[in-house]
Amino acid sequence: MTYKVKFVDPAKGYRSIKEEIDAAYFEVMSKGDLIDRGQLKSFEKNLAAFVGTKYAVGLNSGYDALHLSLRAAGIGQGDEVIVPAHTFVATCSAVVNIGATPVLVDVGKDFNINVDEIEEVITDKTKGIIPVHLSGYMADMPRIIEIAGKYNLVLIEDACQSLGSSIVDQKSGGRRQEAEIRDQGSETRGKKKMAGSWGLTGCWSFYPFKILGGYGDGGAITTDNRDVAMFATQMRYNGEDRDTGEYHGHGFTCLLDNLQAAFLDVKLRHLPEWIKRRKEIANRYRTALSDISDLLLPHYDRLGFDHVYQNYTVRSKQGNEFSEYLKKNGIEVLTQFRKPYYKHKALKLEDSGFPETEVLSREVCSLPMNTEITDEEVEYVIKTVRSFYNK
Ligand SMILES: Cc1ncc(COP(=O)(O)O)c(C=O)c1O
Repeated sequence: MTYKVKFVDPAKGYRSIKEEIDAAYFEVMSKGDLIDRGQLKSFEKNLAAFVGTKYAVGLNSGYDALHLSLRAAGIGQGDEVIVPAHTFVATCSAVVNIGATPVLVDVGKDFNINVDEIEEVITDKTKGIIPVHLSGYMADMPRIIEIAGKYNLVLIEDACQSLGSSIVDQKSGGRRQEAEIRDQGSETRGKKKMAGSWGLTGCWSFYPFKILGGYGDGGAITTDNRDVAMFATQMRYNGEDRDTGEYHGHGFTCLLDNLQAAFLDVKLRHLPEWIKRRKEIANRYRTALSDISDLLLPHYDRLGFDHVYQNYTVRSKQGNEFSEYLKKNGIEVLTQFRKPYYKHKALKLEDSGFPETEVLSREVCSLPMNTEITDEEVEYVIKTVRSFYNK
């Protein structure tokens, strides 16, 4: 089906920065710089600076970032790792595939792990927590860090959906970005600490539809820990230290392509202006739709928590009826995830009951949110949503 308003429009996105992308392509191709060259190093340096960590290591996917982070932390057989019940399945699969047991925790109204329920599931076997910053909004990291500290747990951030988001950390010290945050009309002075700089690692996906998307798969970890950065750098290349030729373990083939790195480096330069545009669109949706009582909008108004709107996920009491109406009227929407991952039989996970995840799974609907969308298209989405509720 051709939609009047697309969920994302990669071709239009390409056209908007065509000259820069084409120049990056010709530079890589004309030199034959395909594997682990300057473009990868440059992107890693710029990504680390953007996130505020000492290191970034380019990988093949967000899944690889999670997988290598768990291995770097020494987590494996017999260990338990806490993950949210509402996330993309890869968060959980990375835990299963290293031989550990995922322990699911329900989410709260903001779609992120419900911090009040974390301590209830901690056992002697618990070794780590993977909070997911879903849709561009961070999990409550100040509280999660406290819990991780109390029980000596490794913290790995699944930040795949939240590049550019942040929380003002009142207690922060060290390498953090000073910022003056203006929120809800009041002014808070604090240190803005970016997603991906709180845990042992931050895990990133550059899947094409992400806020920073490549033209194929890609991922990275960010970290302040030199040993972890070194481990990932070797393991992504089958365990080899490329300077000495020494193998440091049985590794994997999961290096970020140099060509993708060159494209991502171009796009990273535009990210701050793209996030600004996403926030404008979110504000427009909020102004126009917040009076509809059957529609819950993703504006949580927590002081110091910055939403970058990777997705603009609303909750409609009318569930499929609402999402199908939008589609029928030419608006491409996503309904991730109508069926929670733990309900898929082949994954052999225990469904111990996650009430919030159950309800939101029936209600979620992500409206078009991308930097290519025009004001007219946004108005059309608003008009169509309103017409559904005025029926
Ligand atoms: C929350 C979350 N975790 C993990 C992943 C996995 O990333 P990738 O698809 O790059 O492996 C994604 C992306 O799809 C994601 O959204």
